[in-house]
Amino acid sequence: MALTPLIAGNWKMFGSRAMASRFAEGLTPAALPTGPDLLICPPAALVGLVASLFAGRGVSVGGQDCHAKAEGAHTGDTSAALLADLGARYVIVGHSERRADHGETNATVRAKAMAALAAGLTPILCVGETLAERDAGQAITIVRSQLQESLPDGATAGAVVIAYEPVWAIGTGRTPTVADIAEVHAALRAVVGDGVRILYGGSVKPGNAAEILAVANVNGALIGGASLAASDFLAIAAAAPTA
Ligand code: PGA
Repeated sequence: MALTPLIAGNWKMFGSRAMASRFAEGLTPAALPTGPDLLICPPAALVGLVASLFAGRGVSVGGQDCHAKAEGAHTGDTSAALLADLGARYVIVGHSERRADHGETNATVRAKAMAALAAGLTPILCVGETLAERDAGQAITIVRSQLQESLPDGATAGAVVIAYEPVWAIGTGRTPTVADIAEVHAALRAVVGDGVRILYGGSVKPGNAAEILAVANVNGALIGGASLAASDFLAIAAAAPTA
């Protein structure tokens, strides 16, 4: 059975209340593709507002990170339970920018994914190799071990989403060849089995979305820069194959 594609936007540390309102205005019934599931992950401070702005507009809301603990004295962090309370249904964990900026390890990412599941959220677990690792021929080994070490035990099919994001393709305008994407996604599929959606992320744009979304074992996209305007985001979503 084909998996419903998930088209997910990651606003990173961009956005404002005004920008969220403009985006919501672009989500007209006529503009929304019916096939894929749609998701926007705004900065934590905007999750509640975006959840109310998007209510009934066919786009889910998610966080970009959560703490590994359910609650506690962790100044500045956000719990998975609060994201859920604000209306989030998903949370990104282990994005390469979190791994680089905050020293997150596979063990941290695994603990965060488990906290997300405990709060009723679907974690979107990110893996991806650096350019040096790809050039050294280690891409598959690296992403496979990242996934094996960060995947929660017993996560049932459908309870997690995986995102393959080569670090060198994020925000650079460069993408791997479709053959390279297919090779990595097949390796990840062998780890997670058939029921788990595996997204591709890294410089997905309206112009390359159809080609990327048609690759075997690509079940959607995680989009940074091109998710900041509803028109680009929806153009990518419209390129998703129907399940
Ligand atoms: P990009 O970011 O689409 O701007 O390359 C992707 C991501 O980091 O999720």
